[in-house]
Amino acid sequence: MHKGFKISLVAAMSENRVIGRANDIPWRAKGDFRFFKEATIGKPLIMGRKTFESLENGGTQPLPGRPNIVVTTRKDYQYDHPDVSIHHSYDDALDYAAKLAEEMGVDEICIGGGAEIYKLSLPTADIIHLTEIHCTVEDGDTFFPAFPKDDWQESRREFVAAEEGDTADYSFVTWERRSA
Ligand SMILES: NC(=O)c1ccc[n+]([C@@H]2O[C@H](COP(=O)([O-])OP(=O)(O)OC[C@H]3O[C@@H](n4cnc5c(N)ncnc54)[C@H](OP(=O)(O)O)[C@@H]3O)[C@@H](O)[C@H]2O)c1
Repeated sequence: MHKGFKISLVAAMSENRVIGRANDIPWRAKGDFRFFKEATIGKPLIMGRKTFESLENGGTQPLPGRPNIVVTTRKDYQYDHPDVSIHHSYDDALDYAAKLAEEMGVDEICIGGGAEIYKLSLPTADIIHLTEIHCTVEDGDTFFPAFPKDDWQESRREFVAAEEGDTADYSFVTWERRSA
């Protein structure tokens, strides 16, 4: 818990832990996109600058209905939109997300990737929503970080068959941090 807020990572990875390829997501799983939206809507969402720029329309549209909290080292990085804020460290982004969560009356902050930001945020996380996409991506270039199973317990697993247009079947999996 960070100042009374639950921190949830929301991600999807292939069987060989790939989450991205060429700054894009290398599969199509419509139900998982719906899950990402449902899990993050109405909550502060922290993401890395590369993920932000990979969003629909080449990063010219923030994800609607939730504050887009973007982390970058670039001091001159600007994005003029009321739902977008720019931060130069994960800690600063997290403090800002906690302030917004309080104002919004929610008790959860979401982390939307990519690999660099999942890695930075993992030590602070309480929950990992990690959809397992049942395929292998040979030419992936970004991977979900390893997390020690001694510290994490699987609390949900639900298999979903591919629907028309999907690349593969997948499973919704939730991991919760074991209490000390
Ligand atoms: N499958 C999934 O669930 C999922 C989810 C999200 C993203 N993705 C994929 O993941 C890939 C992008 O991931 P990525 O790891 O390459 O990039 P990323 O984590 O989205 O963003 C990395 C950027 O964050 C900034 N950053 C990182 N550490 C920082 C720090 N300590 N302080 C300040 N800024 C920091 C830097 O921005 P600057 O370079 O501007 O300094 C860095 O280049 C894409 O392929 C995307 O499609 C997949």
